[in-house]
Amino acid sequence: MTTKQLKTNAAPRQTEHVHESVRVLIPRERIKKRIKQLAHEIRRDFGDQPLHLVGVLKGAVFFLADLARQIPGEVSFDFIAVSSYGDEMHSSGQVRLTRDLDSSIEGKIVIVVEDILDTGMTMHYLLSIFQQRKPLHLRVAALLDKPERRITAVQADYVGFRIPNEFVVGYGLDYAERYRNLLDVGILTIGKAEKRKRKGSKK
Ligand code: PRP
Repeated sequence: MTTKQLKTNAAPRQTEHVHESVRVLIPRERIKKRIKQLAHEIRRDFGDQPLHLVGVLKGAVFFLADLARQIPGEVSFDFIAVSSYGDEMHSSGQVRLTRDLDSSIEGKIVIVVEDILDTGMTMHYLLSIFQQRKPLHLRVAALLDKPERRITAVQADYVGFRIPNEFVVGYGLDYAERYRNLLDVGILTIGKAEKRKRKGSKK
């Protein structure tokens, strides 16, 4: 569940009826165009060699699916899942593996595919375990990058969009498991309408 972006807001229970709204930040057409560019950049960097994409569940599923289909030539892919220790309000910064890869990455050109680089803790952990498995090359592709939030020195080799420090959902990114299916990336705001309504009623 992606609540790590929102360090100060716990996910509301479904019964609380907190008002939520989403404002489009990156429309689907821009996402599509940018992914095509990234795919060609990746292919150009590695000539006609086979590429192995590793998607980080669950947020990266749509990005991986679209990226893989835009890269010409031989491409295989696999998935890995991790979760952070800590509660919804406080990340401990520790990451643990909850689903490992199906196949070895030894000797392969591996592109780790992420929906978002936030603090960088997840990617820092993944890169450390992948390095030990002796890939030929190890690169990172992130659709979104929030450099302001970074607490590790991790960087992506391929970045779709650098975004401000806002809570984003859609195109794989969730809030309490919802919004992943939105076609655009949007900024989620919570409770604002409720506040406006309350202010209005005092007039
Ligand atoms: C999100 C996102 C990245 C990670 C980035 O995953 O998909 O994997 O957080 O955050 P970091 O840079 O601060 O480590 P999350 O654990 O929320 O799981 P999800 O992909 O299933 O939504």
